[in-house]
Amino acid sequence: MSSLRSNESKPIIAILTMPDNELFFRGNRTNFVDILKTGKDLGFLVYVVTVKDLILSGPRILGYSYSSEDQIWHPQWFPLPNVIYNRIPQRSDEMRPEVKKKLEECINHPSIQLFNPFFFNKWTLFEWLKKSNSTHHLVPLTKRLRSSTTIEKMLTSHSYLYLKPESGKAGKGIMMIKYQTDRKMPYRLKIQNHKNSTTYETARVTKLWSRIKKEAGSSPYIIQQGIELSSIQNRPFDLRVLVQKNVRGRWGVTGVGARQAGKSSITTHVPRGGSIEDPEKLLNTLFGQDTMRTIMNRVKSNSLLIAYQIEKAAGYPLGEMSIDLGVDGEGDIWFFEANSKPMKFDEPQIRKRSLERIFQYCQFLAMNKKTNSV
Ligand SMILES: Nc1ncnc2c1ncn2[C@@H]1O[C@H](COP(=O)(O)OP(=O)(O)O)[C@@H](O)[C@H]1O
Ligand SMILES: [Mg+2]
Repeated sequence: MSSLRSNESKPIIAILTMPDNELFFRGNRTNFVDILKTGKDLGFLVYVVTVKDLILSGPRILGYSYSSEDQIWHPQWFPLPNVIYNRIPQRSDEMRPEVKKKLEECINHPSIQLFNPFFFNKWTLFEWLKKSNSTHHLVPLTKRLRSSTTIEKMLTSHSYLYLKPESGKAGKGIMMIKYQTDRKMPYRLKIQNHKNSTTYETARVTKLWSRIKKEAGSSPYIIQQGIELSSIQNRPFDLRVLVQKNVRGRWGVTGVGARQAGKSSITTHVPRGGSIEDPEKLLNTLFGQDTMRTIMNRVKSNSLLIAYQIEKAAGYPLGEMSIDLGVDGEGDIWFFEANSKPMKFDEPQIRKRSLERIFQYCQFLAMNKKTNSV
């Protein structure tokens, strides 16, 4: 009886990832170490499990625990989890039939709760946010990129455009177009490389389109109104907001970070030369203390509205997401993307809080009857 009661008060949590022939499993191992350590400190039993080893019909589960002393992972038998925290690393993994089947099984299980069911698609997110009165004003004009006609049409209203793969992440495949009628070569295309960007100029839209096709290959792309981001010393910055559910199952803002683009990059990602900055400092420099406060408050309240709307449109309960927002020269806020498997925030305060929140939400899930609707 007492063991049952302790199970109810502290759920057993499994972090779900993909198997690996040599390393037991794939995924961000330092993130998993931090999660396991936080769980232990908070008194939870938590382990890593692969899609292959997660057998919900069995009596026990082969999982992995981490020993900080020898810094190695140990295979070990564990009881079945109450909550499964989905950290399957790649979209391509999630598409595999055996992974889909396993996730379905978790979703349909009568009692085991799955925390975060799937990755988002960039295009779908815009569709979801456009249709709500509370969020449509945050969304830049966005279309699916199907032909050069879409580009020409968009250029009649916006001379600055972003092209992004629907399933992209970390700046991969991003391009930018500037159309300047006063130049001999009016179309200027910038393609994001590893750290910098390559520029291509042409006078003809057919040539521009060929170059874009060459870069995009067969990946579906969206095309989007470019936002003139606030910038300091010619380096634009944007905001990363972490939104998570708390112990009462309600959305809250865990933290707001800022990323400033590297000198010749068209995105703000740190691995591409961007840097981590304090959002309040950046906004204070540009807008002054009072406006900075107003913008920060709007960033937080709009992020919550975005999370509610995404969850409602997805039709399935979500536990956390990170949201990329731009702030333009007027101080207006723009939505760029949301990620259902947020990357680690490197700001120590946000990081610490984010790890604790994961367990608070797991606690909520375990204390409440399972529901697959929002
Ligand atoms: N419409 C846009 N206008 C201006 N900058 C943009 C726009 N879309 C994206 N960016 C810049 O590119 C970065 C990456 O875009 P994002 O949609 O977050 O793609 P990824 O999934 O690759 O991170 C953003 O954080 C922002 O700095
Ligand atoms: Mg992003």
